[in-house]
Amino acid sequence: MRSSSGKSNALSGSIRAPGDKSISHRSLIFGAMAEGTTRVTGLLEGADILSTASVMEALGAKIKKTGEGAYDITGRGARGLQPPKTELDCGNAGTGVRLIMGACAGYKIRATFTGDASLSSRPMNRILNPLREMGAKAEAQDGGRLPVTLESDGHLQPLTYTPPVASAQVKSAVLLAGVNTAGTTTVTEPIPTRDHTENMLRAFGAKVEVTKRNGADVIKLEGPVALKATTINVPGDPSSAAFPIVAALITPGSDIVVENVMMNPTRTGLFECLTEMGGHVQANNFRKSGGEVIADIHVKYSKLRGITVPPERAASMIDEYPILAVAASVASGTTIMDDIGELRVKESDRITATANLLDVNGVAVEELENGLKVTGGNVSGGGLVATHHDHRIAMSALILGLVAEAPVSIDDASMIATSFPTFFDLMNGLGAEISGGEIS
Ligand code: S3P
Repeated sequence: MRSSSGKSNALSGSIRAPGDKSISHRSLIFGAMAEGTTRVTGLLEGADILSTASVMEALGAKIKKTGEGAYDITGRGARGLQPPKTELDCGNAGTGVRLIMGACAGYKIRATFTGDASLSSRPMNRILNPLREMGAKAEAQDGGRLPVTLESDGHLQPLTYTPPVASAQVKSAVLLAGVNTAGTTTVTEPIPTRDHTENMLRAFGAKVEVTKRNGADVIKLEGPVALKATTINVPGDPSSAAFPIVAALITPGSDIVVENVMMNPTRTGLFECLTEMGGHVQANNFRKSGGEVIADIHVKYSKLRGITVPPERAASMIDEYPILAVAASVASGTTIMDDIGELRVKESDRITATANLLDVNGVAVEELENGLKVTGGNVSGGGLVATHHDHRIAMSALILGLVAEAPVSIDDASMIATSFPTFFDLMNGLGAEISGGEIS
């Protein structure tokens, strides 16, 4: 059990955002597929990423740590990903398992994918259906759950596909299957999602074109492509930066800087919301790093007001609703977050888990069919939050504790290491009092 103190002192100082989880997964997967040695710096050394690294090693890549966050990945190139000798345990990593299944489908392979209890409850048919349409065979448990056994002869048909949900993981799985498939693989996205796969595949030498048709993005990949190793400097993760940023916004007297935050517009929806709520969230010192624009974010305690979040913004802040709900808990008025049914199939059902986390700590919250309504006010705290093995629920609860009258506790902190292993050190370094320096 871990707790945050209640009524925190002001936060101050500068921290560096940890490496982006999405780009870290892709660095390892694409590097493992490519010819030559890809050099990565700033890799997130979180448990999810380490799971992906060990799976890519089981598929034949050589991965060597050369320093803190620095890795050399020697890929398989023309030899292709090799059939693994054991089951591939993807841990808690939804992005890992879904992208790797897409990548594997393009090769002659048979592989069984497993994961922890949270990952094993998540839907995989959204990936398996398009891969089956391309010609791969997949056996899953009821409801399309893990363990999944995927088999491919390495001769897929190119697919033209519109994912039924706005999902970068689905888009990426189809495009990765297209890498080793002759012809044009096309994904149409009525609502754009994070574009790291497209950008990074280009850096690895693929031809990826994006055009607009009837307002939708049409993404075309010409296959087969012999990916070539490159160098990658992983930018800071805006989804992790979100936690100290909201912490400083809501804790009276705070003034902090979070450095090195990726400002890709497919990821910055939360910052738009916080600014609309009256928050001082100012991005300075814009520069380019590893093909992405990054900035340092200056945050000052601000009196916030509730907003209605436009549903079309959801894709650019899909992981940030729990922490936005925490900001809404102290804002004046009501914040409405609707049309976010996808949150029910994340690491936990994040609509119910967020509603519970607020409710047990005395915040006025209403769970909608596909969303949340939060009315800000005094936060009594004192609750024990059920995290359901979800890192973002755990961190959101601890941040809520900083403004609560009484400490807020969580039932488990171990999974915070999946995306933000330095969370406790960084937050306490800013002046927060969150017990549990090490994650156990
Ligand atoms: C991710 C895509 C999103 C996001 C996840 C990372 C990615 O998932 O929630 O944390 O790296 O592609 P969906 O594609 O399911 O929306």
